[in-house]
Amino acid sequence: MTSVDASIAGAAGATSTDAAVVAGLLPDGLVVVDAEQRIALANAEALRILECDGADVVGRPVVQGLPLTDKDGRDWWAHTDPWNDTSSHSGHRETLLVAPRGHEVLVTARYVRSDETGVVEQVLLGLRDAEARQRAERDQASVLSTVAHELRAPLTSVTGFTSSLLRRWDRFSDEQKRLMIETIEADATRLTRLITELLDISRLDSDSLNLRLGPVDLLGLLRTHMVRYELGRTAGAVQLRLGDRARRDGLPQMWADTDRLEQIFFNLIENALTHGGGGVTVTLDVGDELDGSPESVVVFVDDEGEGIPVGDREKIFGRFWHGPSNASTGLGLYVVRGLVEAHGGSVLVDDNTAGGARFVVRLPAGLPAVLDG
Ligand SMILES: Nc1ncnc2c1ncn2[C@@H]1O[C@H](COP(=O)(O)OP(=O)(O)O)[C@@H](O)[C@H]1O
Ligand SMILES: [Mg+2]
Repeated sequence: MTSVDASIAGAAGATSTDAAVVAGLLPDGLVVVDAEQRIALANAEALRILECDGADVVGRPVVQGLPLTDKDGRDWWAHTDPWNDTSSHSGHRETLLVAPRGHEVLVTARYVRSDETGVVEQVLLGLRDAEARQRAERDQASVLSTVAHELRAPLTSVTGFTSSLLRRWDRFSDEQKRLMIETIEADATRLTRLITELLDISRLDSDSLNLRLGPVDLLGLLRTHMVRYELGRTAGAVQLRLGDRARRDGLPQMWADTDRLEQIFFNLIENALTHGGGGVTVTLDVGDELDGSPESVVVFVDDEGEGIPVGDREKIFGRFWHGPSNASTGLGLYVVRGLVEAHGGSVLVDDNTAGGARFVVRLPAGLPAVLDG
């Protein structure tokens, strides 16, 4: 067994065949260069990344079979010269290098030294396709800039108005002052909401969202909401209705997290007003049996906008997915779905008879199983 087989196989007593099999199964590319500076092994993923055949590279001197250039255009093998390395370096951390066919590869190098002399006998290279990683980084960067932009916009009014008020307090009329303070309050609320959403996303993603469950009066909660809308916007923009079954039988008791429910419906109503256009109708009704719960409450949020194309109906619930408007973050519906599902419910989007969008939220009702009976 050569030392690379030993290093792949470890101390488990595996054979070199096992080592080759393991190398073939590795999700990352692996290239082994021997003491003669020839390529001894290249696994399937390495060949895929380098777009070449095993026959083209195995057995060839590494400088020919796998020439690598760093970002300054230097020949990486000549520059690092592992076989004449007299330090005790164990290799190189992940570096972005350019491979033969011009594509970028993330390369990690590990030196295997002789126990006695410390001379580098083998170089193991880990290879990763840089493209997927770079795409992910670009996505992340654009998300960060959207979020930063969203956070800064309301702050501009908060800092601008507070400094005007502080400097020129006496020069403003009471009415002007009130208007500025109202704007500051609205923007501070927007900031808080945005930050709550960001925190929720990280909790949803890490499965650490905790619900504070208690009895909830959903109708009362939405009514309070409506009052806020009536105050803040044109009266009558949002209507609250009870469906037929709810009017006949009354709504079942719900056991849920009040703040989260408020967040869910705030987001849906806000979307209906901004993306939907026209009036918004929120209908509460008794729902059918839901997985694990004999009773449920169903809420329809209908608007009079254009509706949502069938092809986008799942996408809109994606993280950071938003329509053509650059001003939005696309966080809302991702959080909505996460919160609804955390309650054991479901949310989907459909058309309504007026052609607008209809969001349907189903939430389990009744007492939780532990308290039942
Ligand atoms: N009621 C609606 N009518 C039409 N399009 C909608 C509606 N609600 C959401 N959308 C679309 O779904 C996208 C995602 O919504 P959301 O996650 O709340 O993000 P945001 O509101 O920040 O854009 C919106 O950008 C919009 O394109
Ligand atoms: Mg939204």
